[in-house]
Amino acid sequence: MKSELVTVLDLGSTKTACISACLTKEGALDIKGLTVMPSRGVRKGVVADLEEASAAIGAAVREVQNQTGREVSGLVVGISGQHVEGANSQGFKPIVPRARHITNQDVLEVITHSRSLVLTPDREQIQALPREFRVDGQRDVLKPAGMSGTKLEVLTYVVTGQSAHIQNIERAVSLAGKRVEQMVLGPLASGIGALTQEEMQLGAVIVDIGGGKTDVGIFVKGSMADSQCLPVGGQLVTSDLSKLLKTSPEEAERLKTHYGSALAKIVPDDESIDVVQIGRTYARPLQRKVFCEIVESRMREAATMVAQQIEKSGFKGVLPGGVVLTGGGSRLPGTQRLFEEVLKFAPARIADSSLAGQCEGDKPISAALGMARFAIQCSDDLGPANGSNAWRERVKVLLSRFGART
Ligand SMILES: Nc1ncnc2c1ncn2[C@@H]1O[C@H](COP(=O)(O)OP(=O)(O)OP(=O)(O)O)[C@@H](O)[C@H]1O
Ligand SMILES: [Mg+2]
Repeated sequence: MKSELVTVLDLGSTKTACISACLTKEGALDIKGLTVMPSRGVRKGVVADLEEASAAIGAAVREVQNQTGREVSGLVVGISGQHVEGANSQGFKPIVPRARHITNQDVLEVITHSRSLVLTPDREQIQALPREFRVDGQRDVLKPAGMSGTKLEVLTYVVTGQSAHIQNIERAVSLAGKRVEQMVLGPLASGIGALTQEEMQLGAVIVDIGGGKTDVGIFVKGSMADSQCLPVGGQLVTSDLSKLLKTSPEEAERLKTHYGSALAKIVPDDESIDVVQIGRTYARPLQRKVFCEIVESRMREAATMVAQQIEKSGFKGVLPGGVVLTGGGSRLPGTQRLFEEVLKFAPARIADSSLAGQCEGDKPISAALGMARFAIQCSDDLGPANGSNAWRERVKVLLSRFGART
């Protein structure tokens, strides 16, 4: 476990969050620097304007450097977007001579075997997360090194993404004078940031409703088992409101955050709101319930897509830890109830915003916190890691080895 300072960067569609943190002696996250700035040059997890993105990265990192008084060179960067995919893959290695002790090299080799996926030339691996080892058929082995056996197997969650998008993030970071030390899958980061250890072990779903996308991560037995980036988020709710009510996007956003609800039925019938339409200087009244029906239809669509993803994953039956909602989009009143109604199978909760200081002002930073915990706490690097592309080769063993969450 490292306890030196790590600096992480969450390049969101609406905000850029940067944190420098280390661990206290007790194993809690000690945040030494933190900034949340409006995002620039990034949309739905993908760099849309290289110069803007790198300027935003540079500004955020400089701010954190000023707070900590330390120059940062390497950054742990979140990656998400519809181009990112995860798949469960198996690796196998006979242990010869028979029944000798399994070595770290064997572990590395079996993981490497599980990573031998055939990818199209435009894709590459971002992360490999061993979920479970098996020694001679014995399941749920966490640390095979040192054990005796004749056959070592591993189940690995392998994350891949489109090379161009990955390289654009690297390029934006490098134009800001920094280097990518590790990329962390968005739903993994949000899960580590917002789920409790117990929820992860029991089996639970993280749903991070951001501005441009919704990251869904399914955790089973303490590890990531499935993930998906859905193309819905808070910005779509705002743009629906703006189009249907003929308001500016700013007015729609203001009305949404002040009067919006993800469930129209919890809004009293007799309430009305004042809406200023484009080209008008005076406000017109609108029944708040009608307003919230527009909000609900988009949020219900998001919840339905999450339900479909859980169904498709095949893990629906092993998620008693329920669903945890985070991200700015989950701030709409009624979100928790809407998700419980749509998902049906499990309780939902909103990530506790007071927990571990997950909110900077009004901005949820579960993903950035999760990245920091991942970078510091996940046992490090079974793989070789030299050279500028080294982070791609790294293998981090996941969550089952975490200490208690702060
Ligand atoms: N109190 C609130 N009520 C409703 N919506 C809110 C509230 N606060 C923030 N939002 C919405 O949350 C969204 C931003 O969420 P968040 O900061 O998690 O996104 P992001 O991380 O920048 O984006 P992404 O993860 O999609 O790349 C915006 O669409 C905003 O309108
Ligand atoms: Mg986000």
